[in-house]
Amino acid sequence: MSEVVKGKNIMVTGATSGIGLELARSFSSKGANLIILGKDEEKLDELYDEISIHGGKNLIIKSDLKELDEKGAIQISDEIKKYYGNIDGLIHNAAILGNLTRIEDYQSKTWDEVLQVNLTSSFLITKHLLQLTSSSNEARIIFVSSRVSNNGKAFWGAYSISKFAQRGLAEILSEETEVNKNIKVFTLDPGATKTKMRFAARPSEDQDSIKTPKDLIHCFEWFFSDESSLSEKVHFKYSDFHLPKDAT
Ligand SMILES: NC(=O)c1ccc[n+]([C@@H]2O[C@H](COP(=O)([O-])OP(=O)(O)OC[C@H]3O[C@@H](n4cnc5c(N)ncnc54)[C@H](OP(=O)(O)O)[C@@H]3O)[C@@H](O)[C@H]2O)c1
Repeated sequence: MSEVVKGKNIMVTGATSGIGLELARSFSSKGANLIILGKDEEKLDELYDEISIHGGKNLIIKSDLKELDEKGAIQISDEIKKYYGNIDGLIHNAAILGNLTRIEDYQSKTWDEVLQVNLTSSFLITKHLLQLTSSSNEARIIFVSSRVSNNGKAFWGAYSISKFAQRGLAEILSEETEVNKNIKVFTLDPGATKTKMRFAARPSEDQDSIKTPKDLIHCFEWFFSDESSLSEKVHFKYSDFHLPKDAT
């Protein structure tokens, strides 16, 4: 499985922390060319230097997704086109949690920001990068989803709504790209994973009792495998790739 991303041009949004950081590190060590998108220049430079030792052709995209508009998405697409010509993977991973509070107390500014970062920016980036997947043999668009994308759960507000909508976006895209045999669209609900977002959502949880971003890498790799080309399914969760400890 470790060969599946070799030589592929893969963009990871939110590549400077948590799951995105581990993805960038791991895919780069396995020979992928990484387009790392983040909002923090210092962290991006540090990551770029770190992954450069693997010899891939990497690119930094500094973008605060809270501010991303159509023009910004076109600029990102143009930059990638100029540097690589095409793209093989687009992993929409960046997200913010917003407020965990009742709808009646939810701040509308935070509501807008969460939908902008978690949903609208993915729409804009996908819209303008789709053309760059046409010359890829096997392009993949992957949305990092969440358990709260399936059922409304009290206090999860705009975060949950953004993940419901992201799920819809993935289904629409999957149908619209069905004729292009080279593109597959997937979502992955990673489940509880030790990152700063998880800690912010559940500060009293024993952090050592949950898996780390490293434990998710094989799931993301599968999306780039030949086997995934045959999949009719769009939505995946961590447990689809992982047998419970007592199920031997
Ligand atoms: N951890 C879990 O248990 C869990 C469970 C279900 C789903 N998820 C999903 O997994 C994905 C990754 O989350 P994580 O747990 O790894 O969280 P995280 O450590 O907080 O990482 C979030 C990433 O998004 C970036 N980001 C946030 N706002 C941004 C903006 N305005 N512009 C550009 N980048 C921005 C962050 O940048 P900085 O590095 O600059 O902060 C960071 O790289 C998310 O889609 C989340 O919804 C996580």
